[in-house]
Amino acid sequence: MDLKGKDFLTLLDFTQEEILYLLDLAAELKAQKKAGIPHKLCQGKNIALIFEKTSTRTRCSFEVAAYDLGMGVTYLDPTASQIGKKESIADTARVLSSIYDGIEYRGFGQEIVEDLAKYSAVPVWNGLTNEYHPTQILADMLTIREQFGYLKGIEFVYIGDARYNMGNSLMIGCAKLGLNFTACCPENYKPNADLIKTCKEIAATTGATIRFETDPAAAVKNADVIYTDVWVSMGEPAEVWEKRIAELLPYQVNKELMAKTGKQTTVFMHCLPSFHDLKTKIGKEMGERFNLTALEVTDEVFESAQSIVFAEAENRMHTIKALMAATL
Ligand code: CP
Ligand code: NVA
Repeated sequence: MDLKGKDFLTLLDFTQEEILYLLDLAAELKAQKKAGIPHKLCQGKNIALIFEKTSTRTRCSFEVAAYDLGMGVTYLDPTASQIGKKESIADTARVLSSIYDGIEYRGFGQEIVEDLAKYSAVPVWNGLTNEYHPTQILADMLTIREQFGYLKGIEFVYIGDARYNMGNSLMIGCAKLGLNFTACCPENYKPNADLIKTCKEIAATTGATIRFETDPAAAVKNADVIYTDVWVSMGEPAEVWEKRIAELLPYQVNKELMAKTGKQTTVFMHCLPSFHDLKTKIGKEMGERFNLTALEVTDEVFESAQSIVFAEAENRMHTIKALMAATL
């Protein structure tokens, strides 16, 4: 498998074999890390991390993975570079790719990371756009495979705002790898029709199924994985909270919903960060304003034995490391 020089912008650009290769490499590098075996596969290289939105997991994963691989890292925070304000994406790409061996980008529209890749001579990795979050999917799939031992045929339910980066990317990931994907949401929160059509075509070749359901109880019956994300994503205006809460509260993941799968083995997943209690500034503000103790998932589920969110978060680092090792 040769992925050297390849950009990582959306999983649509990768075959099932290529994605499985990245997962296998991540598992191998994870085992090496746990055993204290050095794996400086990219010694002497350097990468740039561009973040136009904030991050904990993605930034830390790219940095630690780069150090483990023997690389140097420059972090450009949402205010620290000229990008977009004084310098175009095309110029930035040509400057950075003459200095660095790889570039990570987190920001707004998918067209920005695509432009960056177009003008860059080195691999560009998408660290989240409004439309896609492909490195998250690698971690999620590794975590599911660790939990169940397989991916094909897993009953995967994504519940909540399915129009945004996580809903889109999980649907693609499930279609590519043969999981049965259900998006449970109101009609107006479904991914766009073109992407659904594309994913159904992919699913037809991998044995996956793609289904939409507005009723949470019907959606989660038989689920192996219940996955949710925040109801308001980075970059969206605060004014949308009221409508989101009104429309998505019936889709909150709580103990009653988890019990409706009919399986003891169902796990709960979330890309994080999560509003599962009122211990964050926004969580507290919304909780007090709308008289809630949690938003997209209750604290009880988040903290339960069924929740594998922290194993999932750890796998961000191992999978991002595999991605860089494979493409550099
Ligand atoms: N899941 C995820 O991308 O987290 P961060 O926003 O903290 O990077
Ligand atoms: N949908 C979320 C994902 C965060 C990892 C956001 O874009 O803010």
